[in-house]
Amino acid sequence: MQTIVREMKLDDIDEVTIFLRDHFYGNEPLMQTPGDHQIDYDDAKRRKYRLSLIAQGTSLVAIEAGRFVGVAFAGVIHPSDLEESWSEANEHKPKLLIEHIHYFLSDLERSARFFERYGVVDALYLSVLAVDATVRRQGLGRCLVTALLDDSEYLKVM
Ligand SMILES: CC(C)(COP(=O)(O)OP(=O)(O)OC[C@H]1O[C@@H](n2cnc3c(N)ncnc32)[C@H](O)[C@@H]1OP(=O)(O)O)[C@@H](O)C(=O)NCCC(=O)NCCS
Repeated sequence: MQTIVREMKLDDIDEVTIFLRDHFYGNEPLMQTPGDHQIDYDDAKRRKYRLSLIAQGTSLVAIEAGRFVGVAFAGVIHPSDLEESWSEANEHKPKLLIEHIHYFLSDLERSARFFERYGVVDALYLSVLAVDATVRRQGLGRCLVTALLDDSEYLKVM
């Protein structure tokens, strides 16, 4: 089957959000932590953040037979973004699973010190990569990441 990979557009947001509900939330390893975790996959803050990534022109969708089978949300980040994310994660003690994940990842990302290590001031950050559960392990995830790398002039962080 032919797969088309193209830039994600603002008009894709509703379809992509449903795709994330079905193929990202509950599938991503950290979110498979046992327990009854309620995760709001489409609150106003998340939607705003996703739209800001789409607007940068650095996010991709993969389409097969007219339906979305993969998405990659990516955008440019600067050192101050990591500091802001860390401060936000420390505003209050994490309670929900999603807050624990945010805290864990923020800590990891700032501790990696990749801006210093590579001597750069911006980087392409892959925020979400998800492939339809029915077509995984066939190279689509790799294909999306390769397309991002090929198209970008930024340091890539995944
Ligand atoms: C992670 C994900 C995007 C991979 O997509 P995919 O299309 O199945 O990946 P590919 O077929 O392109 O595989 C790429 C590489 O990852 C490896 N891989 C993929 N899934 C794997 C798994 N569950 N365990 C171990 N290795 C895996 C493949 O073997 C391949 O490596 P290789 O080429 O050296 O063999 C997909 O499993 C997914 O959507 N998971 C849920 C969301 C998620 O966890 N996203 C990542 C965090 S944002």
